[in-house]
Amino acid sequence: MKLVIEGGEKLEGAVTLAGAKNAATKMMVASILTGDPCILENFPDIGDAKITQELCRSIGSDIDQRGNVLRIHTPEIKNSKVASFSRRNRIPILALGPLLARVGEAEVPVLGGDKIGPRPVDIHVDALTAMGAKIEILPDRYVASAKGGLKGAKIKLRYPSVGATENTLLAAVLAKGRTVIENAATEPEIIDLIKMLQKMGAIIELGADRAIYIEGVKKLHGVTHSILPDRNEAVSFACLAVATGGRIFVRDARQDDLITFLNTLRRIGGEYEVVREGIVFYRPDKGALNPVDIETDTHPGFMTDWQQPTAVLLTQANGLSRIHETVYEDRFAYAQDLNLMGADIKVETKCAGSAPCRFSGKDFHHSALITGPKRLRAATLTVRDLRSGMAHLIAGLIAEGKTVIEGVEELDRGYEKIDERLKKMGAKIVRKK
Ligand code: EPU
Repeated sequence: MKLVIEGGEKLEGAVTLAGAKNAATKMMVASILTGDPCILENFPDIGDAKITQELCRSIGSDIDQRGNVLRIHTPEIKNSKVASFSRRNRIPILALGPLLARVGEAEVPVLGGDKIGPRPVDIHVDALTAMGAKIEILPDRYVASAKGGLKGAKIKLRYPSVGATENTLLAAVLAKGRTVIENAATEPEIIDLIKMLQKMGAIIELGADRAIYIEGVKKLHGVTHSILPDRNEAVSFACLAVATGGRIFVRDARQDDLITFLNTLRRIGGEYEVVREGIVFYRPDKGALNPVDIETDTHPGFMTDWQQPTAVLLTQANGLSRIHETVYEDRFAYAQDLNLMGADIKVETKCAGSAPCRFSGKDFHHSALITGPKRLRAATLTVRDLRSGMAHLIAGLIAEGKTVIEGVEELDRGYEKIDERLKKMGAKIVRKK
């Protein structure tokens, strides 16, 4: 499937955010912790959610989706070995905790997902092992067991990994005793997962300095939970508005989740207005854009999933911008694609930030130097991963001529009906087989 884009149109109008991909998929897995039905509202219509539905069904969940409400019910675990399940995203490893809690054993495949670095799961494995799980790592799968049940433990994460924090939370809520997660990730999607678990009967406290305290309970019950809006979609629409010189009202965008991004956008020369139901993004009088230095980080820092759409804006800024990617080792492959369109982006192994990061001295191309402004021209591109696909899309919408983006299934994994929504705001975009 491909998108054919005729660049040069201003995007104007309103768009409503879908529920967050990176919460919806985890919440489906969390629902497996109870034998009661769970209702997830504001559920997004995206590929990753469908992949996760297949995973949950293979475990024994009955799933019924009507519009954006998903009902998921796992009265019993019919299958705790999901190893044959294809490696299409990074969710299966999170099923280890709920499966160990309910049946004391689990098998999940090694993970897929975006190709943006080696993406090991050593921190997940160490945390579950500290809680009493025995985990065997085979070339194609992880085989886990906890015959006497999981036990609370004091766990200090080497890095505040989003997935490892979620995995530990999901394992700890039904474990015996108290678990402390130090150096935990605190992304808004994790807080929303905590809210869902708390409604299900869990006892979870947030402490200072990235600490999370969980008191294991015997049983969790069903829940109705409305998933938080997708802040990554919000950032993508904000960059689309500013890049095309348009104005987009992003309904449900929440200032709380976007504080660092909003500051960066204003420094670049984009503007926004926070209103009751969302945020309006625009470029004042198609004014000049300014170069900036950005360093990606865990929340509340500038998120790694925001650098790709922002990089396209920086190709239009007057001067040299730097992006120092400190979360993933290899997330700038898309710079080649933008360069093909006329951008000037140099990718380096040297840290571009004020201080060296954990990738310093290693051979990772994790810094980008972007010189602008450069006029972009159309090209034929293939989506490499979800967020860089968004960079392709924004670049195509401001480039001269007809851009073709192939491999759109990858974009559909995380953006709900993106072409239809952009078309409503004036984009010339057609989906073709
Ligand atoms: N890491 C380890 N060992 C581990 C786990 C992580 O070394 O056991 C490293 C990773 O290799 C990476 C860093 O820690 O360098 C961060 O990884 P993290 O575990 O925080 O990320 P994740 O849970 O795999 C989620 C999102 C990503 C998002 C990151 C960071 C999901 C499904 N994915 O990934 O989203 O970029 O957190 O916020 O929630 C996307 O939506 O396009 C996407 C890639």
